[in-house]
Amino acid sequence: MLNFEFKNPTKIIFGKDQITSLSKEIPDNAKILMLYGGGSIKKNGIYEQVTAALSNFEVVEFGGIPANPEYEILLKALEVIKSENITFLLAVGGGSVIDGTKFLSSAALYEGDTPWDILANKKPTLKGLPFGTVLTLPATGSEMNSGAVVSRAETKEKLAMGGPGLFPQFSILDPQVVQSIPKQQLANGIVDAFTHVLEQYMTYPSGGHLQDRIAEGILQTLIEIAPKIIADPSDYEAASNFMWSCTMALNGLIQKGVPTDWAIHAMGHELTALYGIDHARTLAIIAPSHYRFNFENKKDKLAQFGERVFDLREGTKEEKAKAAIEKMEDFFHSLEIKTRLSEYTPAYKGTASIISKRFNQRSWLGIGEHKNLTPDHVEKIVEMSY
Ligand code: NZQ
Ligand code: ZN
Repeated sequence: MLNFEFKNPTKIIFGKDQITSLSKEIPDNAKILMLYGGGSIKKNGIYEQVTAALSNFEVVEFGGIPANPEYEILLKALEVIKSENITFLLAVGGGSVIDGTKFLSSAALYEGDTPWDILANKKPTLKGLPFGTVLTLPATGSEMNSGAVVSRAETKEKLAMGGPGLFPQFSILDPQVVQSIPKQQLANGIVDAFTHVLEQYMTYPSGGHLQDRIAEGILQTLIEIAPKIIADPSDYEAASNFMWSCTMALNGLIQKGVPTDWAIHAMGHELTALYGIDHARTLAIIAPSHYRFNFENKKDKLAQFGERVFDLREGTKEEKAKAAIEKMEDFFHSLEIKTRLSEYTPAYKGTASIISKRFNQRSWLGIGEHKNLTPDHVEKIVEMSY
């Protein structure tokens, strides 16, 4: 096992009707900016629950943060934070609203010329404006981590940021919010969380036995609840396990002491930036070809994944490893998630070379757990996913 430090300061308040405890978590004299997305919270009752819980506070609202939070829109929220002297941010939404709020938390205290530099320069945020979240969509784990991803339509970029100053102070996780999520978004959430676990697991054996078992437990739980939650999103037992699995998949715990990959996300973000494909779907496009391309380096863990998660008993290590990739793809297909780029955009040809050029320009010359995947390798992997 590798050396590590672990600190996660986010308080999780989990369970039925927990939005009512919101007021206890925010300082009495706070001036709150409540941030939300395109309006789903106004149709499913979450907006009423949150505003009722905040009735004793001074609250300003900022709605309209789109999926893949857009930089230009966030700049408008930044103006509100400054002109209204906001002291606390409350994100009510999925990964996009929470990530947008993390960007604002950082940008509100940023002293540089242009807040885009927070993303472009990748300098960790050590201190941000305090914020909390009410999670409405299990998927990203953003509710209990310190990372964020922001998009910019003008340049077709999607870049990540983060730092120890960007953990939410608290996150309220009421699994009842899952009831109103459309099937397509439920499937996205399952595949995103599944791939988060894989990015921290599908590397090489490193003696992190507990980390492996926890990772496999999350994968098995996601596979078990997937058909149930798709069939009936009001199934509370399935919803609560879905929600907690997504949080546990990316709150830092399973990555401690083990090597991590994250190449699938790096390539996937480019597909969202170029074509607007949903985040989780970009991962389902890249993952199979990434594992086939890096088969030699990853076959030990692929075979372990096959044996322990999909109960593959027959064949050699190589055969089990290959079958495991197919099983993973079958799982994505079972959620009606397609795994070829050409199934999402007619403009797929040439994508691989665009992405490899971008990686070169940004000096991303070695990614993956061995930091040895070059832009040329990236080009091949993306091409294999056409
Ligand atoms: O905008 P509204 O109207 O609220 O609708 C949203 C949105 O259209 C809807 N929705 C959310 N909760 C709902 C609901 N609809 C009905 N009922 C509810 N309870 O779902 C749609 C998608 O929401 P979004 O927040 O975009 O989804 P998700 O949580 O998947 O977030 C995706 C973003 O997170 C980033 C992605 O790159 C993408 O930008 N990620 C963030 C990570 C992190 N911070 O750690 C890690 C991930 O790998 C990922 O990169
Ligand atoms: Zn993801």
